[in-house]
Amino acid sequence: MQPSEEIKSRLDIVDVIREYIQLQAAGVNFRAKCPFHREKTPSFVVSPEKQIYHCFGCGEGGDLFSFVMKMEGIEFVEALRLLAPKAGVALKKQNPEAASKRNKILDILELSRRYYHKIFLEEASARNAREYIKKRELSADTIEEWQIGYSPDSWDTVGKLLRAKGYKENEIFVAGLIVKSNKNNRFYDRFRSRIMFPINDINGNTVAFSARVSPEKEATEQMGKYINSPQTPVYDKSKILFGLDKAKLEIKKEDLAIVVEGQMDAISAHQAGFKNVVASSGTALTTEQIQLLKRFSNNIALAFDMDAAGEMATERGIREAMRLEMNIKIIEVPNGKDPDDCIRENPNDWVLAVKNAKSMMEYYFAKTFAGLDMLKLDDKRGAAKILLPIIAGLKNVVEKDHWLKELSNRIDVGEPLLRESITTAKPRVERTYGQKKEAKIKIQKQAREEKISEYFLALLLKFNSYLGYAINYLQVEQIFGQNNQEFYKNLIIYYNNSVNINLDDYKEWLKNIDNNNGTNTKTINQLKLLNKLVILVDEEFSDIDEVGAKSEIISLALALKKQYYLEKMKGVEKLIIEAEKQGDENKVRILMEDFKSFSEEVKELKNSI
Ligand code: UTP
Ligand code: MN
Repeated sequence: MQPSEEIKSRLDIVDVIREYIQLQAAGVNFRAKCPFHREKTPSFVVSPEKQIYHCFGCGEGGDLFSFVMKMEGIEFVEALRLLAPKAGVALKKQNPEAASKRNKILDILELSRRYYHKIFLEEASARNAREYIKKRELSADTIEEWQIGYSPDSWDTVGKLLRAKGYKENEIFVAGLIVKSNKNNRFYDRFRSRIMFPINDINGNTVAFSARVSPEKEATEQMGKYINSPQTPVYDKSKILFGLDKAKLEIKKEDLAIVVEGQMDAISAHQAGFKNVVASSGTALTTEQIQLLKRFSNNIALAFDMDAAGEMATERGIREAMRLEMNIKIIEVPNGKDPDDCIRENPNDWVLAVKNAKSMMEYYFAKTFAGLDMLKLDDKRGAAKILLPIIAGLKNVVEKDHWLKELSNRIDVGEPLLRESITTAKPRVERTYGQKKEAKIKIQKQAREEKISEYFLALLLKFNSYLGYAINYLQVEQIFGQNNQEFYKNLIIYYNNSVNINLDDYKEWLKNIDNNNGTNTKTINQLKLLNKLVILVDEEFSDIDEVGAKSEIISLALALKKQYYLEKMKGVEKLIIEAEKQGDENKVRILMEDFKSFSEEVKELKNSI
């Protein structure tokens, strides 16, 4: 078996797509709002039986691989690499020459991760680091699970190692592991004598490192407590959450994502059994990060340090989440501690803090009123100025009303007055981010007849015992839509040349008609249409039986035939008017004959109904 086939056989497309978007069961299939275009009502359908998907809004469709490729913006070989571990399929190691650029970088990072981890566990030079990690109470299992490492105190160890494995200096540089010296243009290792935390993407591929200063150097270090990988082709820090690969299933299960700031906080939480925790790595939450979390839950609780920076991060995160209509809460860790300290000292305090998390509006109110005196007019005005735009930004009317009342009570200003000013206060969310331009995807309005043609073809694919009958009855040119006509033509050829009619076989047959293994645009369109029709029949005719299908096929064919003749008549009508203008009586007479015969066909169709 091909690796791609094996992966497909072991994975369920529903599980894979569920990691990206929320799917709702709908009959035999699943439905969702399409991730590839903007829509209000879900027209994206996934078929577990056929292991394919199709969007009836924008026309995207395909299998597991095409979904992941499109979603992640990656090539086939890269999707292969991404899905292989999920399926438990081992891929043959590509040699460095042949691997794609992205895969090469991932290989380099994986090699480095293993190397750093080994050094941490085994080398004498890592003794301090080991002791420090032990002091912070990380167990051997945790060290293994998070692949904690140590980078040796050397200028050219990792660079050398990777070059020896066949990677070029430039590739190692692009992966972010070596740095170019300004003085002599030579490359040297970026990470030296630091505790290494591999940063993984959502699928568990290591894409970067965060490196903590070795404890013995903490006091004298000039470069900062943590240094991190730079932006690389595989690492965009605004799109990664530390620990999400390990937390995602638990986030879904608990229907809550807890976001902390530091790697150590996340690791510590997981070790203590709180596995729905990820870390933002010390920065404010970005839209992309919140969107990542939204794949698994609509609920986020932020546990950021409550120092000034932490508060800023919290506010920023709140605004982003509001914009995406996420429910957001704020966890206040008692005594201003790091989650890490709190969890280690008393896990119950942490549980309690999570349980008592404030809603973002409670948090905003508490924070705003903390330093204000409601006997002072200026302070009242100040509170209204901060809170009104936030209330104006609330999407839910009930919530909006509730917080307006609350504000009215707290500052003792009549509600109607506040309500009035809310219409002038620009919602904070809008003001900060404005209208984001979405990529325009043209959605073609489909002619009714094209739709009928698709229903007809879809039913024939499923109830293929009526194929022979249909082919005799309806001509290729009586099908509407170029792609549909082509499809019908192919189906007829296939029917005439095959003993047994079956879908998989037909798909293979389609792939081979262009002698290019289905890579011609025309064939790709045919395969896409096949995919669509297979889902269409589930969606539109889910409970139809053989008898029902037969009468449906007949009436669809009739409708198409009728429309075909009506359009013919319209065409002839135009020609007649033209011929009359030119005074060509002979031509008019012949055309009238045509017209009559077409209209008789229509009449006959009516009688046969
Ligand atoms: P903290 O300073 O809170 O670190 O920064 P921490 O996680 O508590 O670290 P320990 O407990 O002292 O080991 C929170 C996060 O901010 C990022 C790191 O990702 C860190 O985990 N950070 C911090 C940096 O990127 N650079 C820095 O210099 C400091
Ligand atoms: Mn800490």
